[in-house]
Amino acid sequence: MITLAIETSCDETSAAVLDNEKVLSNIISSQLFHTKYGGVVPEVASREHLKKITEITQEALDKAEIKLNDIGLVCATSEPGLIGALLVGLNFAKSLAMSVDKPFIPVNHIQAHLYSNFLCGQKQEFPFIGLIISGGHTLLILVEGLFKHKILGRTIDDAAGEAFDKVAKLLGLGYPGGRMIDEYSVTGNKDYHKFPVARLKENEFDFSFSGIKTSVLYFLKKIDFEKIKDEKLIKDISASFQNAMVKTLFDKTVEAAEKYNVKIISVSGGVSANSAIREKFLTLKENGFKVYFPAIEYSTDNAAMIGLTGYYKYNSSEDKEYFKMDSLMKNAEPKLDYENF
Ligand code: KG4
Ligand code: ZN
Repeated sequence: MITLAIETSCDETSAAVLDNEKVLSNIISSQLFHTKYGGVVPEVASREHLKKITEITQEALDKAEIKLNDIGLVCATSEPGLIGALLVGLNFAKSLAMSVDKPFIPVNHIQAHLYSNFLCGQKQEFPFIGLIISGGHTLLILVEGLFKHKILGRTIDDAAGEAFDKVAKLLGLGYPGGRMIDEYSVTGNKDYHKFPVARLKENEFDFSFSGIKTSVLYFLKKIDFEKIKDEKLIKDISASFQNAMVKTLFDKTVEAAEKYNVKIISVSGGVSANSAIREKFLTLKENGFKVYFPAIEYSTDNAAMIGLTGYYKYNSSEDKEYFKMDSLMKNAEPKLDYENF
């Protein structure tokens, strides 16, 4: 089965072609110009997707050496994301599915992050604990089977990537700053300062990252950061902040694994590219855990994970008629939340 997938939920325009579960091509065009605004500007993002979508899709087909008529399934991200950005990919993909008269599968972007490790060696063994850490979402999930998810915890305020980006901005490292914090931390002192991490009473597996960001802000004010800032100080603060992030993500995931007696952990989403997070989680292998991280190409937003998840969704569905275009005209609108996750 040849699957064509499109992803346009935020600031990456991406198209991928898969042959069953094997990726034949995965083209990603990142909208780097948002850097100068310090964040993604939704209207500008939609317009850029519109400009790029045809050429990126063509490139994905060419690289995979696949013709339109070879396609068996078309998938696109339908939720969650920026509404205008979603609409571009969704309508483009629906029209394409209609033109080749093939099923169209709307895909939840967070589910796609969750399954991205199946592109990278993870086997379909259940249950596993999924930790999804991206720019917009932070979720801890017990996965009991394909599309059998129990959300154990989620962030009650900022997402993990958002915390990285906001702290990077405070340190003058630009946007998106997660990767910069990672790089600066390599030679920084993680014990330079202890930033507090909130413990939540209501649900032990929920996260809160707005406090840590505020404590970095107060600390910078206290030491008069703007006057004394130098490379060494930025590195030490980056490493200390990152250390606190690693600790909270790691501790909660391990607690969840212990509570539910699960020995497989899968970390995904843009922040899973972080080298300190990888290093810490991979130590669990010494304690008999299987630990999975996506290749960098599949950790940040990409269409390959959308294609794989759409392919699973179609295969595991008992009502394949549902994915025919006439019934989908009513059902595949973009959605903003992930309540039906
Ligand atoms: O999954 P993603 O590409 O987009 C969303 O679905 O939100 O995640 C983007 C996030 C950004 O916040 C970015 O700063 C963060 O991933 N990120 C990192 C690293 N690389 C990307 N955060 C920490 N360390 C990294 N190496
Ligand atoms: Zn994402």
